[in-house]
Amino acid sequence: MKENNSNQGAVIELSANTKPFNGLIIREKEPENLEFPFSALNSSLTANEQFFVRNHFPVPSADLKTWRLNIEGLVGRSCEFTYDELRQMPSRTVTMALECAGNSRIFLSPKVAGLQWELGAVGNGEWTGVSLAEVLNRAGLKQSATEAVLEGADSGEIKKEPVSPGKIKYARSLPMAKAMSPEVILAYQMNGEDLTPAHGFPLRAIVPGWYGMASVKWLNRICVIDREFRGYFQTTDYTYWERQDGLPIQLLPIGEIEVKAEIARPALYEVVPANSVYRMFGAAWTGESEIAKVEVSVDGVKTWFPAQLLGDSVKYAWRLWEYHWRTPAETGRHTVMARATDARGRTQPMERDAHRGTYIITHVQPIEVEVKQVRGSGSTDSYAI
Ligand code: MTE
Repeated sequence: MKENNSNQGAVIELSANTKPFNGLIIREKEPENLEFPFSALNSSLTANEQFFVRNHFPVPSADLKTWRLNIEGLVGRSCEFTYDELRQMPSRTVTMALECAGNSRIFLSPKVAGLQWELGAVGNGEWTGVSLAEVLNRAGLKQSATEAVLEGADSGEIKKEPVSPGKIKYARSLPMAKAMSPEVILAYQMNGEDLTPAHGFPLRAIVPGWYGMASVKWLNRICVIDREFRGYFQTTDYTYWERQDGLPIQLLPIGEIEVKAEIARPALYEVVPANSVYRMFGAAWTGESEIAKVEVSVDGVKTWFPAQLLGDSVKYAWRLWEYHWRTPAETGRHTVMARATDARGRTQPMERDAHRGTYIITHVQPIEVEVKQVRGSGSTDSYAI
């Protein structure tokens, strides 16, 4: 049975005359960490081959004959599911923008530690699987159940500071309220195809509205506990400072996604024809809300002009946008910017918040381009006026 929920819209193609670019950028060879070249954005759904990959440890292999998902801890009865059993349960499909909490880190100055992602540690996929709540309900939650710890099959020792206490597995927890929300699924498919090893085959969590670190890949164990989980990936890593009266008071695990717009075209340092109309476009997304508007500034934030939002709003998915920019007559370096606001009225900040450490990089990014006198058109999407 396929229970299509409302979280799906028509697939939007951005430019039919632009050949899709099939490639990824290496940010780290081992373990493999690959970035989507964001300027290649040409559809509301990111193709599986172009979806960024974020791995902390080597990709584990799985044999479906022996593979099991184990549910244990504060449940009525510990139980296990085979792959076939999960595939036979009612399925759900959820469209979700998956953004790594470290996306855009390369723009931080001075430089900080971590993978130097540009704009492409983000993608929008259609994920199919079973509801986490359904799996937990089958095991039966005890009253004291507070969090569900999701554990992957991948493991290793982190030798760079902050080092791990020996060999550890990748694990993240969800508070019960989020774990039991209908949009959270255990996915076995991505854009209608079985998951690839890099994206979590055979099973991964998909946690819409949260940064990517919560969507645990190679999931094979869920442990229900009665307190806040304080594992490596939510104490030593993937944290931010909570502020009270302006003061940082405690490190908290990163959870919900903050509102953000990114410009795909023009690309960084793209040559843009002078005195033309250039079609700028990109995508915008947020956490537990929807994108209300995207604005563009082409004059160093003196003025913000509304961009056009494309397609329908689909909760947890990204929203494509475009803006027709009348490029200046004078040539040389020029800066363009975009910012998004969500339905709760949250707008991207102009300045970086130091309390976010090396994560949650959502302050408005100036995208530098080179305005030039170009004979004919410099881009398939621009035209002289
Ligand atoms: N799950 C496991 N088991 N191991 C990991 O290293 N990385 C997390 C998350 N799930 C990770 C994981 C992070 S930080 C992100 S951003 C997403 O997976 C990336 O998912 P993707 O590689 O499918 O794009």
